[in-house]
Amino acid sequence: MTKEERLAELEKVFSPTAPIKEQSLFSGRFNQLKKTAEAINQVGQHAIVYGERGVGKTSLANTMTYTLTNIYPVKVTCNRKDTFATLWSKIFRKISQSITTSGVGFRPIEKHIEISLDSIIDFESKNVQSEIEAILEEYAPKKFLFIFDEFDNILDSETRESFADLIKSFSDNVTNTTIVLVGIADTIDTLIGSHQSLERCLRQIKMPRMSDPESEHIIEHGLNCLDISISKEVKSKIVEFSSGFPHYIHLLCKYGAEEIIMNDHTDFTEAYLRIAINKGIENTNEQLISAYRKAVVGSSATIKWQNVLFACAEAPLDEFNCFSLSDIIDQYNQITSMDRKAGTIAYNLKQICQEERGSILQKLDKGIIVRYRFSNPMMRAFIKLKINSDYQL
Ligand SMILES: Nc1ncnc2c1ncn2[C@@H]1O[C@H](COP(=O)(O)OP(=O)(O)O)[C@@H](O)[C@H]1O
Ligand SMILES: [Mg+2]
Repeated sequence: MTKEERLAELEKVFSPTAPIKEQSLFSGRFNQLKKTAEAINQVGQHAIVYGERGVGKTSLANTMTYTLTNIYPVKVTCNRKDTFATLWSKIFRKISQSITTSGVGFRPIEKHIEISLDSIIDFESKNVQSEIEAILEEYAPKKFLFIFDEFDNILDSETRESFADLIKSFSDNVTNTTIVLVGIADTIDTLIGSHQSLERCLRQIKMPRMSDPESEHIIEHGLNCLDISISKEVKSKIVEFSSGFPHYIHLLCKYGAEEIIMNDHTDFTEAYLRIAINKGIENTNEQLISAYRKAVVGSSATIKWQNVLFACAEAPLDEFNCFSLSDIIDQYNQITSMDRKAGTIAYNLKQICQEERGSILQKLDKGIIVRYRFSNPMMRAFIKLKINSDYQL
């Protein structure tokens, strides 16, 4: 491949800010795809995909639309202003039917016109749900898959209630349509409220952070397309820094590979990883950079604040991605080679949970056990990169 060809391919294979749109670039997630396929194949069953920001929910939703055959997929993205009516009209706008008119006059000419279905439903009507059901039934045996991405943007409780009602009703009355809701959430209650009667018909699909083999597959596949080799050690460092967020895998690989290609090289060495980390930090999400700056900059003891954050990022996580004060202090003592007690960093931790210092951490009090977690889960990976970089923010 020429340099230009490699650079063009690089744009395709590593996309830190865009969801995956091509099946060949989608790694792993077999379990989640299998569960969605099962929900679709079972009449009366719908699904909800939930998880942290940046774990790959939209990419999974895109992949569903082209890996499943015999189904007509429509995906819409919810925004804060959407209501039940606007969301359904967006869906039906994307479905069109072809109508043949016989024409009028002397020597009439037959005409085929495409009309989108949103024009035949009154979305403001009180009976909109039954209108929707009736139209979909008319199309049986054709099957539909309707995906509502970023459902967490719907804050209005009336709209959420209407969706819960509609899913229950679809489950009993509409046999050719599957609804998939996708959104950022720890539990499904935060997305649709607690509707016990929905549990029967709503398959819960949790998107976890990526496993190491899934992360490795993204690196191997992408670099392979660019004729770049990588040692096991450098590969596992990229996996470790990324903390299960595919965004960081793409980010590091993109900047490392770009430099390698520009230098007409073919090996992703440790030296290129250093460059990738610095460039990755420089180009990461502005929100993360500014929260980090707020936490460490502008105080006389910048190093101490920084070490507390480093200790939080290195602390081992429990199954809820939280860590304890004793984990933090252990890490802090390791980083600083000191033997401090928890009390000495209590003030810093308290401040880091507050707005003036970027609200980087959240404190979760459950009885006597106090645990912390990063407000933005991607912050942990960002700080891990920062620890390994001399880039000045
Ligand atoms: N299965 C996957 N294989 C390869 N890259 C992925 C995969 N899932 C997500 N990504 C990448 O990770 C980043 C975040 O993915 P996205 O689907 O936008 O996450 P979410 O919708 O959960 O915020 C994007 O850069 C995307 O290309
Ligand atoms: Mg998304």
